Amino acid sequence: MDQAKRRQRATLAAQGGSGWIDPATKAIIPPIYLTTTYIRDTDNQYRTGYSYGRPHNPTNEHPEALLAALEGGAACLTFASGMAAATSVFLALKPGDHVVAPNIMYWGLRKWLQSYAADWGLAIAFVDGADSAAIAAAVQPGRTKLVWIETPANPTWPVTDIAAAAAAAHKAGALLAVDSTVATPILTRPIELGADIVMHSATKYLNGHSDVVAGALVAARQDAFWERIAMIRTGNGAILGPLEAWLLLRGMRTLALRVERACRSAATLAAHFADHPRIAGVLYPGLPFHPGHAIAARQMSGGFGGMLSIRVAGGEDAAIAAAARVELWKRATSLGGVESLIEHRASVEGAGSPAPPDLLRLSVGIEDPGDLIDDLDQALASGN
Ligand SMILES: Cc1ncc(COP(=O)(O)O)c(C=O)c1O
Repeated sequence: MDQAKRRQRATLAAQGGSGWIDPATKAIIPPIYLTTTYIRDTDNQYRTGYSYGRPHNPTNEHPEALLAALEGGAACLTFASGMAAATSVFLALKPGDHVVAPNIMYWGLRKWLQSYAADWGLAIAFVDGADSAAIAAAVQPGRTKLVWIETPANPTWPVTDIAAAAAAAHKAGALLAVDSTVATPILTRPIELGADIVMHSATKYLNGHSDVVAGALVAARQDAFWERIAMIRTGNGAILGPLEAWLLLRGMRTLALRVERACRSAATLAAHFADHPRIAGVLYPGLPFHPGHAIAARQMSGGFGGMLSIRVAGGEDAAIAAAARVELWKRATSLGGVESLIEHRASVEGAGSPAPPDLLRLSVGIEDPGDLIDDLDQALASGN
């Protein structure tokens, strides 16, 4: 992704899409259609295309059009949460279908796959998502219907080669879906690299202000599988509410600025902690010694994201104690907001978590990076 393309995306986001103007009032900001239903025409038709609030709402079409354009996709649907978006992809498969997924991924979805989806009948092979050969070896031609990846992936930030995963999936006749929540379309465009579906927890960077729970899917093509996903959104009642959709569009206007700042600050923090007496390790794809750095450098452009993890010398107790001493960072789960968050990830994920017990996950916001470093330094130092 070259610089000119990145600039185009920043402009597109700032204008909330293609510069929509209300034809009736010339307002530059779309209205919120707080309606559940629509008048039927006297000849019994619904000529506007709108009939009821569960299948669609015109408010949602604005962030959907913007995200489809940012991702270079053919269509987008917004969902009530990232989980509603992700699970709709799996529910569009059929019981008995084989799926390949990474063993390091957003823990909530991994748990759902291991429990609900397995009970429902999906056969899921969990593999090392950073190992393209392992993905290629796990797909079963004719049987595997979906390869799911997340890159960079929670909470240790392994990087998956999207183009290689797409090639492996397609060779077996499967689709590739990418959870691109952490990369955002500012840094990575999975569809250009061969992905069929891109998923976002729009709760995170897309909205960016920790005040909306939302999800989105973007499709490379509007095919029968995509129609099935749309049917599932309607049938399961998983659409995003119009008020949240409106807030999401407002948040997305500053996406490029926020992501650029978060990336720069995260890189500064990673460099600071890479050689820090109280830190046993820094996990950040932007560091040259990160195992996924070369692939990340190839498929991410403009930065390596605002997420990193630090491993605290002294182990789990020292990590939890350091998190307890922060004053500026917010000790909270989630990521991608303007305020920086810190959390002891193993405590969140519980038994079976691949998060090392000494790991603190950092979501770097847009505060002054010096303030963020000073606060972490004092939190780490005062453990004497
Ligand atoms: C990478 C990733 N994917 C998916 C989700 C699920 O999104 P939501 O919480 O909006 O349902 C999360 C939430 O933390 C996430 O971090």
